[in-house]
Amino acid sequence: MASSASSHRVAVIGASGYGGLQTLRLLQDHPSFRVTFLGGERSSGKRWSELTPFLPLPDDPVVRVPEPDAIAAAADFAVLSLPSGLASQLVPGLLERGVRVVDLSADYRYGRLERWQEVYVSEALQMPRSDADLCAEAVYGLPEWHGDRIAAARLVAAPGCFPTASLLGLLPFLKQGLVDVGGIVIDAKTGTSGGGRAAKEHLLLAEAAEAVAPYGVVGHRHTSEIEQIASQVAGQQIQLQFTPHLMPMVRGLLATVYCRLRDPGLTADDCSTVLHSAYRHSPCVEVLPVGTYPSTKWVRHTNRALLSVQADGRTGQLIVMGVVDNLIKGQAGQGVQCLNLMAGLPVTSGLPLLPFYP
Ligand SMILES: NC(=O)c1ccc[n+]([C@@H]2O[C@H](COP(=O)([O-])OP(=O)(O)OC[C@H]3O[C@@H](n4cnc5c(N)ncnc54)[C@H](OP(=O)(O)O)[C@@H]3O)[C@@H](O)[C@H]2O)c1
Repeated sequence: MASSASSHRVAVIGASGYGGLQTLRLLQDHPSFRVTFLGGERSSGKRWSELTPFLPLPDDPVVRVPEPDAIAAAADFAVLSLPSGLASQLVPGLLERGVRVVDLSADYRYGRLERWQEVYVSEALQMPRSDADLCAEAVYGLPEWHGDRIAAARLVAAPGCFPTASLLGLLPFLKQGLVDVGGIVIDAKTGTSGGGRAAKEHLLLAEAAEAVAPYGVVGHRHTSEIEQIASQVAGQQIQLQFTPHLMPMVRGLLATVYCRLRDPGLTADDCSTVLHSAYRHSPCVEVLPVGTYPSTKWVRHTNRALLSVQADGRTGQLIVMGVVDNLIKGQAGQGVQCLNLMAGLPVTSGLPLLPFYP
């Protein structure tokens, strides 16, 4: 694989999946990271070119079973892009061997192991865990809010795609106490790649094309993740309503957050100023002018989140809209953004911020 004495060595585990593929693509163009280990299960033992002829890698590596010793011998950092529960089987061994980890799954997104076990019940039954200490140690990898802690972390839990778009819009208003913490509603839409690359009936073209449908209404797993971070920032317990919808598109995610303004006299311009101020030093977040509403197409293949806000003086509602590419700012790009911070690099290093349109 690519060689350079000055670059950081990265293992990508789950390389053949959607998150793994985006991570590899981003790291191929990155000036300071090089990929030195590819991990997978079904793909292990295969040459990369057999699996993925459209994304050639230097020296055409073989995908390997992800054993901590082998990963630690090859890499300083590991990006884990695995189905729920599997990262927790690898992470303790990697940290013991000095490998710093960015996990793209939910395994370390909850500060308490018990909370993960409540939300991810089926995985918890199949994969018993006793790494409560690591759940407490892991840093939630939303760089715009936890940048300093990410930079110093051994273990970063990158947020889910829905939480990324929802929290970026909501948190500035919670932090300043500008909205009621009760009655928050998030209505979100995602493309089918949000379900990963493994075959699933509801993601077949014949099922998902020319259709829009809600799913996970009441109790979607990302609800608890959004509530956890929103509660931390608000300084009080928050319960909110979150409803995702599957859209007939491959990638992209829109989250529209509705909440009640404490001061119904606040205008859209006032609220836009709140967002501008929160993200004035965040190159991966852009706030659109009031009255301009974001499209998922404006962020495709980029690590940028676009936010826009409206205030309805008639109803006293604040409406915050956020779009991300679920596979980039919602997953692999955010992972690379965290790697940049951990390695002391500029936060946007190697990350695309402009789309090819349309
Ligand atoms: N898709 C999104 O929009 C999105 C956004 C944010 C976060 N996430 C999270 O990111 C993680 C990865 O999602 P994804 O959509 O990229 O999934 P995916 O496309 O289904 O890929 C999963 C990868 O895991 C590997 N894998 C499965 N079982 C394994 C095992 N026992 N040992 C080693 N490797 C194994 C697979 O490789 P083999 O086929 O070789 O086994 C595959 O490369 C998930 O936890 C997901 O919730 C996804």
